[in-house]
This record gives sequence, C-alpha cells and structure tokens, in this order.
Amino acid sequence: MKRVYFDNAATTELRSEVIHCMTEVLKTEYGNPSSTHSYGRSSKSLLENARKEIAALLNASASEIIFTSGGTEADNLILTGAVRDLKVQRVITTPIEHHAVLHTLDFLKQHYDLKVEMVKLDDKGNVNFHHMEELLGDSSVKTLVSIMHVNNEVGNLLDIKRMALLCQEHKVLFHSDTVQSIGHFELDLKEIPLDFAAAAAHKFHGPKGAGFAFIRKNRGLQPLIRGGEQERGMRAGTEAVYAIAGMAEAMKISYRELEKERKQISDLKEYFKEQLLDKVPGVKFNGGCGEDNSTYTILNVCLPISAEKAMLLLFQLDLKGIACSKGSACQSGSEGSSHVLDAILSAEDLKKPSLRFSFSHFNKKEEVDYTVQVLREFI
Ligand SMILES: Cc1ncc(COP(=O)(O)O)c(C=O)c1O
Repeated sequence: MKRVYFDNAATTELRSEVIHCMTEVLKTEYGNPSSTHSYGRSSKSLLENARKEIAALLNASASEIIFTSGGTEADNLILTGAVRDLKVQRVITTPIEHHAVLHTLDFLKQHYDLKVEMVKLDDKGNVNFHHMEELLGDSSVKTLVSIMHVNNEVGNLLDIKRMALLCQEHKVLFHSDTVQSIGHFELDLKEIPLDFAAAAAHKFHGPKGAGFAFIRKNRGLQPLIRGGEQERGMRAGTEAVYAIAGMAEAMKISYRELEKERKQISDLKEYFKEQLLDKVPGVKFNGGCGEDNSTYTILNVCLPISAEKAMLLLFQLDLKGIACSKGSACQSGSEGSSHVLDAILSAEDLKKPSLRFSFSHFNKKEEVDYTVQVLREFI
C-alpha cells in the first residue's frame, strides 16, 4: 500500500544523519554529564557543544538556552516563571495559541493574581496590531505578551520582530512559542528583542523528548523542575545527552538546507493548492495558510462535503495510507473540535470538515497527486 505522511506539524521523520549522530552518542557517550571523571566530562562537553551550536544558529548566547523535554515544558517554564517569579499580573495572548500556552495560563489564573486578555484577530486569524497597541497602552500592571510565531493548525505567521519591538517600546515582556518556526525560519535573537521562546526538536527532524527554552540573560526566572544543579540550576534531572546532540544536529542541518528545502516545500504547497482548487470545487483554505504571510509547511483545507460524509473522511484517507490531521470536528464545540478553527471560522464553515496537511522536504509531488485523487473520488 502507498503511504503518504502529510502530518509534519504533528511531528517529523528523523533525518538519517540525526539517527547516526544519536546512535553514536548512545553507544559511546554514556557518562553522566554531571560526573567529574572523563566519561562525565566527555558527555558534558558534548552537551555544551550542542548548546553553543544551537545558540549560534539563533544568534543567542549559550547561557540563554535551557534544555527541556520539548515545547510544552519550555512554555510551562517560561509562563510559570513569568507569573510566579517576575510577578507578571497580566498576559496578553491569542485564542489560537497551542494548549501548552492556553492551558498553562488557565492554571496560572486559578493560582495567581493574573488577568489574561485576548488580542483581537482578523477573519484570517492574524493579530490586529492596532488593538495590541491599545492593550499595551494600559501600563498599570506588569505585563507579558505571549504570541506564537507560526500557528500549528492554520500556519499563520506573526511579524515577530514588529511584535517584539512593540513590546520593547511599551516595556512589557514578550514570549513567543516558536515551536513550529525554529528550524523552518531564520531567527536572529539579537535583532528580534523577544525575552523568551520555546522549541521542540521533533518538529525539525530531531528526536521527541528534547527541546529548549530561550531565556534572555538576567530575566530572573526560577526552575519548574527542582533537584540537581543541571542546566545552571534552571532544570534539574540528568540530561538526555543523545537526544540533545540529535537536536543540535537536526537544527544545524535544517538551517544549512533551509533555502533549498523551503523552496521545495513551498512549491509543493503551491502545487497542492492549485490541484485542490482545480479538482475539488468549493474547497477553501482556513486561516492565513492560503496567503503569503503563512508558513510554507501547513495547508489547512475546508472541504465542501456533508457532516455525515465527513465522519468517514479521515478513516478513508487512513485506509488509503494518507496521514494528515483533522482540522476540526464537523460541528463547533463538539468533542475534538479545534479551538483554533472555532476562533476564526464562520458558523457555516465550522459545519464542514477541515483537514490539516503539513509538509516536509521528504514529501513528493506524486504524493499530492495521489491525495487529491483520493479526495476527489471520496467527494
Ligand atoms: C505551537 C506549538 N507549541 C507547543 C507544542 C508542544 O510541543 P511538544 O509536543 O514538543 O511538547 C506544539 C506541538 O504540537 C506546537 O505545535
């Protein structure tokens, strides 16, 4: 059976170089990086090299990179620290953030004196900067803005530099969930004055279970996980050396190959859009993913079919070997519906099924042809 993997926003296939790098580390570098003997020192040096390499790719300092288990932990570390340690009393965010941000803020609201405000979005889900400026005009309490760089469902791309400069001008902290953008977009963190960012290796062809928080120098956050002195006291627990080394390798290759792969994937997405528009009348693209200011890796498609048929669609695609994500259930508010689509689609479009297709350089044009053919036969 043909198999097509169009779910790269959920997670990506490992690069063979990354598997090779991690296997070598697993075989030879089993010392605990906190041990002072030669085995430990060797692991420690690998860890610190990975930190330096990752920092260099973002034009950051190595001391600003704290290794975590992934994006969720990095978001939790940053948001909890901002509220608990920096006494942030107001967070401005959007209703289309990942649950790693939204559910963490819900929890913090219950336990601290915290107000969460939503900035207005336009009908494509893009931030209304005018409203953001209005919100930032109120400087009565310590504020943090938390807005993602790339939306994981509809692919909207934030002008992160503009947002960071705006926050700097208003003297408020800025955290960006960059889980879907690191490895896919260049980020120069000396030029973009954000305070915090989160990343996960498995979104850029690295391993699951490794990620990092970028925490700008002297921000004064305290750890979420307490215990040993690892990560300069910011994250206790013996580091997953092989996974961190694999993450650094994956990130290096992603940036080395960025231009070539971005072009290849952008062309593929454009081709997919053209084929759908041509062969599936009535198809629409959700959020900003059909526009220029979106990531080249995500296409979220609203299909012109009935709710009854929609129930069978993902099942049918899976039977045909095609992996993608459900963009929404058939009805707003029903189990499994997407909070992102709920926030930006009309009631009428929410009744139709939406699918998220997300790409990597491993995908081929023939896979698009096959998927469009299967969709067409089904519809
Ligand atoms: C935008 C965004 N933030 C955070 C996360 C959570 O990352 P992880 O699953 O690595 O913890 C994801 C994962 O899908 C994501 O897409």
